[in-house]
Amino acid sequence: MRAPERRIAFTLNGRPTEVHAPPALRLAELLRDRLGLMGTKIGCNAGDCGACTVLLDGRQVCACLVASAQVEGRHVTTVEGLASGGRLSALQEAFARHGAAQCGICTPGMLMAAAELLARTGRPNEAEVRDALGGVLCRCTGYRKIIEAVLSVGRNDRPDDPSPPAGSAVGARLRHPDADAIVTGTHRFGADALPEEAFLTLRAVRSPHPHARFSIGDLSGLFARFPGLSRVLTAVDIPGQNLFGIYPTGKDQPVLARGFVRMRGEAVAALVGDAETVASIRDEDLPITWEVLPPVTFEDALAGRAPDLHPHAPGNVLCRGRVKADDAAAALAAATHRAAVTVETGFVEHAYIEPEAGYARRVGDRIEIVACTQTPYMDRDEIALILGLRPDQVRVIPTATGGGFGGKLDLSLQPLVAVAAWLTGRPVRCVYTRPESMASTTKRHPARITAEAGCDAEGRLVAFRFHGDFNTGAYASWGPTVANRVPVHATGPYAVANVLATTAAIHTNDTPAGAFRGFGVPQAAIAHEALMDMLAERCGLDPLSFRLRNALRAGDATATGQVLAHSVGMVACLEALEGRWRALRAEAEAFNRAHAGALRRGVGLACMWYGIGNTSMSNPSEMTLVLSRDGTLTLRSGAMDIGQGSRAIMAQIAADALGVPVSALCITGADTDLTRDAGKTSASRQTFVSGNAAKAAGEDLRRKILALANAGAEARIIPVPGGIEIEDGERRVRLDLARLEADAAGVVLVGEGRFDPPTTALDADGRGIPYAAYAFAAQAAMVEVDTELGTVRPLRIIAVHDVGRAVNPTQVEGQIHGGIAQGIGLALMEEFFPGRNENLHDYLIPTIGDVPPIEVMLIEDPDPLGPFGAKGIGEPALIATAPAILGAIHHATGVRITRVPATPDRVRAALLAAGAAR
Ligand code: FES
Ligand code: FES
Repeated sequence: MRAPERRIAFTLNGRPTEVHAPPALRLAELLRDRLGLMGTKIGCNAGDCGACTVLLDGRQVCACLVASAQVEGRHVTTVEGLASGGRLSALQEAFARHGAAQCGICTPGMLMAAAELLARTGRPNEAEVRDALGGVLCRCTGYRKIIEAVLSVGRNDRPDDPSPPAGSAVGARLRHPDADAIVTGTHRFGADALPEEAFLTLRAVRSPHPHARFSIGDLSGLFARFPGLSRVLTAVDIPGQNLFGIYPTGKDQPVLARGFVRMRGEAVAALVGDAETVASIRDEDLPITWEVLPPVTFEDALAGRAPDLHPHAPGNVLCRGRVKADDAAAALAAATHRAAVTVETGFVEHAYIEPEAGYARRVGDRIEIVACTQTPYMDRDEIALILGLRPDQVRVIPTATGGGFGGKLDLSLQPLVAVAAWLTGRPVRCVYTRPESMASTTKRHPARITAEAGCDAEGRLVAFRFHGDFNTGAYASWGPTVANRVPVHATGPYAVANVLATTAAIHTNDTPAGAFRGFGVPQAAIAHEALMDMLAERCGLDPLSFRLRNALRAGDATATGQVLAHSVGMVACLEALEGRWRALRAEAEAFNRAHAGALRRGVGLACMWYGIGNTSMSNPSEMTLVLSRDGTLTLRSGAMDIGQGSRAIMAQIAADALGVPVSALCITGADTDLTRDAGKTSASRQTFVSGNAAKAAGEDLRRKILALANAGAEARIIPVPGGIEIEDGERRVRLDLARLEADAAGVVLVGEGRFDPPTTALDADGRGIPYAAYAFAAQAAMVEVDTELGTVRPLRIIAVHDVGRAVNPTQVEGQIHGGIAQGIGLALMEEFFPGRNENLHDYLIPTIGDVPPIEVMLIEDPDPLGPFGAKGIGEPALIATAPAILGAIHHATGVRITRVPATPDRVRAALLAAGAAR
């Protein structure tokens, strides 16, 4: 039954507005669904994330908590009301200039909260900004550039460089090409994209049990009760292969389970109909009979006392990884000093602010998917298998993606809407709720790690032994990637001759663990950095000197036998950090001497390295840069920008390779019909791999243009209105584009680029060349520990990163800030428990008040293989933060926490056990 509606009159963005709606309809839904103002985002619909923040009579409110009837006669201002006369407000301009928006899904809410503050307090200080914006969560930026932007309003600073001349785009602080759309609320995310035709809505019915058999009875009664219900999909409706997964040989996850579920939140049926009907049907309305089975826990699986969840994984071991160099056992036995550690980590939720959303529509014998994603080409191929189609019958048109961090690499709603649209012939839309998103999508792997290292009397590492078990949950997802990447990185960025590093990915009935910024390396870094601190102490060296003595240098061999020839910036990072680190240590020690109370301060240090791109696997990117008959230059980039800025980065690289100002390039975003496969946005690969493809495309088009003009290699290419001119010494000619043959899209010349990092397969001992390039970093963290309460407050982070070359320093800094914020979450507060905290109220991520000031130093040690020397930063930004914080807790209290997150109860218990509590 439809809810009764009433007339509601209010002022919206300065205009009298009248609408008929149910009085209890949430204001966020009124704005979006009834009034078409998609700038107000919905991240949780529960008052937890602040993405829906608007102004009600000038005060910020969560529009998801305000009933429509409450706005009667009042003034509502949304992000659409900030710009006027086609000009951005000073606040919007500041966000765009400072790189304060990455994916942009939180930006409208942030802007509205900041607008209220600025209306109240013309020139706020940082504490006031933190207070005012404290109700809006951002998962990308680490908040620092947001604070910078708000503080800059009214000041005439210009940190961006909007139009660098030809040849100087790389290295410029270019504003993101989507910045204006993001700050005006016109950037279209998954839930903002609506089919033009009338569409059906889909809602998955999911298992409440982690392990169960089930049967579905006669569904015909459901259609009689709910006339708006068009179809109920079950496993038998999948036209092709009812399995998906990351690896071609490891497809193990059903789109819709067939009689057996391995995880809570697994989809068993899908309701398709009009939106109200689908929302009104309760799961209990379906005739599903459950036979609940005991769930397989990580402990049970490790102990070998659980039934196998998959026939291909005896003992529930999905796969193992291994790297062996010489004889770690003998070298450990002979070492002068030894240290051992056990580390345990939990599930971590990606908590992107945009829940999964999108739609599918059938176009003849093809299917189109319009949804948020990190990997359009893998989605296309998987959907083809599921529908039993050829890949060219599937078109994936990604929307803007409101954060991913690895969690949107796996399929979610795409196969469901694709099957429904295919079978009904109607467009079908689906928007995950926050609890659904958190219950059903992948997480960071929980890890149980034991590690041991030994050094000689001078503090030189001689041996390293490591084993990590990773809970990969119900399905494989990226478990094999974690199992293979971790052993390579297990030693940390240090030269060790004798290494044995092994891993296992273990199936359980938990939520699948998949890709999450670092593929297991952040967990491993907690172990290797604890060992470095412990050995340093045993040798009588300070933590930095010990690391400096052992840091990888150019010419050193890694545990896989790869000799690092160039761009090994570990020593440079440590040397750059040393002065600040020593000063912070002195400051913390002075504080502790001066304060006798419960508060203790400490400074920790951690290093990391990270191989860019896939581990020992081909991962090519292709890119084209095309010249049209009207002189338009267009970069066709399939590299998904999920907030990390690849649209700007690719354009900067391609423009410099072609030799034109970056402002002369248009960019076509990913669309599997229009752009070539640039691989997935993961493994920190886009700048290095797709950047090389963009560079090659620019160089190829340059060669073709110069050949047409019979010009030398040094000639200038000058875009002019309607065409291209070439200046070669004294000669300047205009290309006669009209005489060139054009394709259907009017393109007359195509520059093509392809790059696949040169790696080799690893042998049975993990020996080989797993990556073509490595990023390095050192971070220091200062914290304050309340030894009475067990709370830990980060006070300062210093981050030094070797990025090869910073293509866009503003974006590199933004990635580092955001990675550090996620590292703080991993260290101190984030742990996901399936079925217990599937919302942003109980699952805590860092707020603007949790991220301290961050100082970033960039080391640019160009990698000859990188585009203009660049490597990657997405995952490296995060890895060192948690171990640096844990080291700081130890420095402050003498207690080493190795079970993360280091929540107050755990810290307090450890302090009590060590006799260090107040
Ligand atoms: S959508 Fe309203 S607070 Fe999250
Ligand atoms: S920019 Fe804030 S959530 Fe992505």
